[in-house]
Amino acid sequence: MSLSEQDLAQTVAVLIAPGKGILAADESTGTIEKRFTAVNVASTKESRRDYRELLFSTPGLGDFISGVILYEETLRQKNTAGVPLSAVLTAQGILTGIKVDTGTVALPGFPGEKITQGLDGLAQRLSEYKQLGASFAKWRAVIAIGAGIPTSEGIASNAYTLARYAALCQEAGIVPIVEPEVLMDGDHTITTCEKVTEQVLHAVFHALHQQRVMLEYMLLKPNMVVPGATCSERSSAQLIAQATLSCLRRTVPAAVPGINFLSGGQTDAAATSNLNAMNAAGKQPWNVSFSYGRALQASAIKVWGGAVGNKEAAQQALYLRARLNSAAVQGNYAAAMEEE
Ligand code: 13P
Repeated sequence: MSLSEQDLAQTVAVLIAPGKGILAADESTGTIEKRFTAVNVASTKESRRDYRELLFSTPGLGDFISGVILYEETLRQKNTAGVPLSAVLTAQGILTGIKVDTGTVALPGFPGEKITQGLDGLAQRLSEYKQLGASFAKWRAVIAIGAGIPTSEGIASNAYTLARYAALCQEAGIVPIVEPEVLMDGDHTITTCEKVTEQVLHAVFHALHQQRVMLEYMLLKPNMVVPGATCSERSSAQLIAQATLSCLRRTVPAAVPGINFLSGGQTDAAATSNLNAMNAAGKQPWNVSFSYGRALQASAIKVWGGAVGNKEAAQQALYLRARLNSAAVQGNYAAAMEEE
């Protein structure tokens, strides 16, 4: 194993530590503004800094969280005492990650489909992010389900882009989180979600192979296989776990060390309960954990509401979700724990 491979292996080992998962706090400026508006907080550089400082300094967060994904602005910010926010994470034993894609645009010629941008200049940006303390990265591709979409060309374009990103990360000594998100929007059934997710993951691993990405030094961040948000037929956690695991077992090589799900608009409790059902189903070829944004932060941001006086209560809300998801990673979660 080369020195840089040892680096990558070490980062992966920390990220997949037993009982731990990843906090996605990498909302772009536009997305965090939406989240802040919902709780009547103005989105400024300072309010974003204050909120992220609150999250990262939650006492005991490192017991359940192995890594936090930041937006570039946050990676460059310091807390009120002048300590870089990535150093606040380090002090908690948590690794710093960085979202490196620059968002999505319409895929020309393919109405309704999108492509993620950010490959130009990425090699240089990665080396700077590494100096700023990042050891892993994230790139999100989005796949919508609708009439006639996704097309195989839309899927292949996103798979290729994800693979190019992952190869550049490994070259820079940064562990890539590969995130192909099949969106929940729509009234499609769980069976349709399973078919599309299988097709997407198949294409993604084909592209990763073609780009010579070392599967041992990456993490996959997929959607769970769930019915569309407005589908009338709802599914139990057991069915979701079974559909998701069988889809992943058909498509994700055992060399991949970990799968860390996104929450994608599921409620906090559903995201935890579905993850628990997967881990309760027995041992899988990969570590099965979380990389949630909304499902970890939704209650904390509401409790905070922009008021300094709510800091501790908001931290307790985040701590609770992190603890419950840690239980779910071990298959030890029960709905009654929500009341604690
Ligand atoms: P959600 O868990 O809110 O889907 O966010 C995860 C994420 O990082 C999406 O890119």
